[in-house]
Amino acid sequence: NSVILAYSGGLDTSCILAWLVEKGFQVTAYLADIGQEEDYVAVRKNALLLGAKEIVIDDLKSEFVCEFAWPGVACGLRYEGRYLLGTSLARPVICKGLVRAALERNIGHFAHGATGKGNDQVRFELGCAALAPHLKAIVPWRDAEFTRRFKGRQDLIAYAKAKGFPVPATPAAPYSTDANLLHISYESGMLEDPAVSAPKGIFNMTTDPEDAPDVAQDIEIGFEKGLPTSVKVLPDGAEVSKSPVELFTILNAVAGKHGVGRIDIVENRFIGLKSRGVYESPGMTVLFLAHLDLETFCLDREVLKAMRGLKDSMTDFVYNGFWFSPECNYVRDCLLRGQNDVNGKVKVRLFKGSGILSFCSIPSLRIKFLLSHSS
Ligand code: ARG
Ligand code: SIN
Repeated sequence: NSVILAYSGGLDTSCILAWLVEKGFQVTAYLADIGQEEDYVAVRKNALLLGAKEIVIDDLKSEFVCEFAWPGVACGLRYEGRYLLGTSLARPVICKGLVRAALERNIGHFAHGATGKGNDQVRFELGCAALAPHLKAIVPWRDAEFTRRFKGRQDLIAYAKAKGFPVPATPAAPYSTDANLLHISYESGMLEDPAVSAPKGIFNMTTDPEDAPDVAQDIEIGFEKGLPTSVKVLPDGAEVSKSPVELFTILNAVAGKHGVGRIDIVENRFIGLKSRGVYESPGMTVLFLAHLDLETFCLDREVLKAMRGLKDSMTDFVYNGFWFSPECNYVRDCLLRGQNDVNGKVKVRLFKGSGILSFCSIPSLRIKFLLSHSS
């Protein structure tokens, strides 16, 4: 009786881990490193303390950027006109890594800690079903026994403490977050009411636009076939076309410093709930806008029109958890083929990402093409 658990190191999945052990499972805890900040030494120690047979910490950063973020940029994916899919693109890479680890170990079940109200349950379950249909899903947050036992956070804390898990003394943030290289998301709890604005101190990747530097920063992003290949911090910064992960990290830092990439929306979840979400995705925001301008410049008007519907379809496939479906593959292939002529450099001016709508902060970027454009 073996199970691989998508483990985050947090309270919920730690209790799930101990509960699975209690139920007689041999548990492999699987943690994908997709650029979130984490004390991996402590996470490893805790997983073993809670009874995991093994903990796998898998560095998927490069795979995440190259196989998921870059196609997201090149295909121009943006959900409901606003959300850049930082979590939606991360789930399939986690599924890939988790399934690889499960197959290597001959494991028969997988478990995740997503709730029964969200998108993530769907993404995990559809992703694993597509890659390894024999893996049986265990979903504690939809399990009657588990939910009877753990009615709220207090029950989780008491259980975790009893198992020796070091529950942090500081009270939990009154909202939930999900972090990776592409973004940090904040939702639920106090944020559920869209009339409540996000607390000033909530953000981690972006400066408040009000406090951002008074001097604009120009950067130059290079694309080949729609995929980002280089970034240069002007006026005299060296051209950086190092690894995709480094490129992304540089963009996050410079765009974040200038307050670019905050998004505050209400979105429609797959299962039919409306959900307020606050995001900061500095690098992804700049890439999306730069790519959009370059594409408009490079491609035929009627081709651009024909692509619109495909972009919408693919966005929905990704948001709804259908990354590995034949229909998503098909639309992705079409869109990427259409990127053959999207080559060039885009200059982006970063300056105090500014609040234009009532509860949302969007960057005001000035984008200009360089005359050195190649095609
Ligand atoms: N609403 C976003 C999405 O569905 C973010 C979800 C964040 N997930 C989380 N477990 N906190 O993609
Ligand atoms: C969850 O419900 O587990 C997180 C939010 C989501 O999946 O949409």
